[in-house]
Amino acid sequence: MTETAAFPILRPRRLRLNAALRRMVQETTLSPADFVYPLFVRHGRGVRQPISAMPGQHQLSIDQLAAEARAVAALGLPAVILFGIPETKDALGSDNYNLDGVVPQAIRALKDAAPELVVISDMCFCEYTDHGHCGIINAPGQAHYTPHLPDGYLLNDPTLELLGRASVVHAEAGADIIAPSGMIDGMVRAIRAALDGAGFEHVAVMSYAAKYASGFYGPFREAAESPPSFGDRSQYQMDPANRREAFKEVALDAAEGADILMVKPALPYLDIISAVRARHNLPVAAYQVSGEYAMLHAAAASGWLDLRRCALEALTGIKRAGADLILTYFAKDAARWLQEK
Ligand code: PBG
Repeated sequence: MTETAAFPILRPRRLRLNAALRRMVQETTLSPADFVYPLFVRHGRGVRQPISAMPGQHQLSIDQLAAEARAVAALGLPAVILFGIPETKDALGSDNYNLDGVVPQAIRALKDAAPELVVISDMCFCEYTDHGHCGIINAPGQAHYTPHLPDGYLLNDPTLELLGRASVVHAEAGADIIAPSGMIDGMVRAIRAALDGAGFEHVAVMSYAAKYASGFYGPFREAAESPPSFGDRSQYQMDPANRREAFKEVALDAAEGADILMVKPALPYLDIISAVRARHNLPVAAYQVSGEYAMLHAAAASGWLDLRRCALEALTGIKRAGADLILTYFAKDAARWLQEK
């Protein structure tokens, strides 16, 4: 404390007297440049399939993306992150490293329509595998079967090889940033090495560095059609109870060459966002996930809270905690709300 005076000399309310004064002393401001907008892409033509637990969000076919890209850019949003729903799934998630797969096609469509828009490619296998896990699963008769490891175990190092391969394919299609989200050990290093080996030294890696095994991903699994067919993701995603472990994970990803560090989800993990901000000089991203979006919408639909006010308050809280970037389904709404203010 530098102030030596106290009440009644000091009255903090003086600076809250009117809107102009409050604006002068406001410490955190939101801008459209803070937001990244997630898009779900699928095959087909003319598809805008609403996602029931995420009001206002859709699965879009590739032909819808040009208009979407222009709308996003016109709102001043700098970036989108892509999730793909492939036509066919298999044990190795091969559509993820197919140059004509759904995400590479989407990247090209977005880049054609809005070249200045930053395209981030979520890099994970759960949308592409028939078992819905984020990598190769140990199973008798399947590729990479390793008898001394448990059945159903996610095979770490063989998965790294596929992550590298798919990242190069997405970079070839024009992705600006690869965002590995599977919490596979060594994923950042493997992707960096694969990108550099293929001449993509300029493509950045945004790591889902501290990603928790969260119930708040519920609506996303409908949106991306990616629920695991057995078990859950707690063998690779983090236990919500752990804090020190997040610092270990984040430090590893920074050492492996991540350009941006992400914490996910956002609102229940503000302490982690804040601490990661203090410990690292890299940009920190936070993902306000599907369940965070859904619960605000559900409460607003019941008339229990004001959507705009509470969404902006949540986003402000995430930024105040230390996030430089926020991945949020509210990105377009929030950009509009900020324009209106
Ligand atoms: C893929 C992935 C998930 C999310 C982002 N990337 C789902 C999961 O890990 O189960 C969740 C995003 C959200 O809930 O909005 N691994």
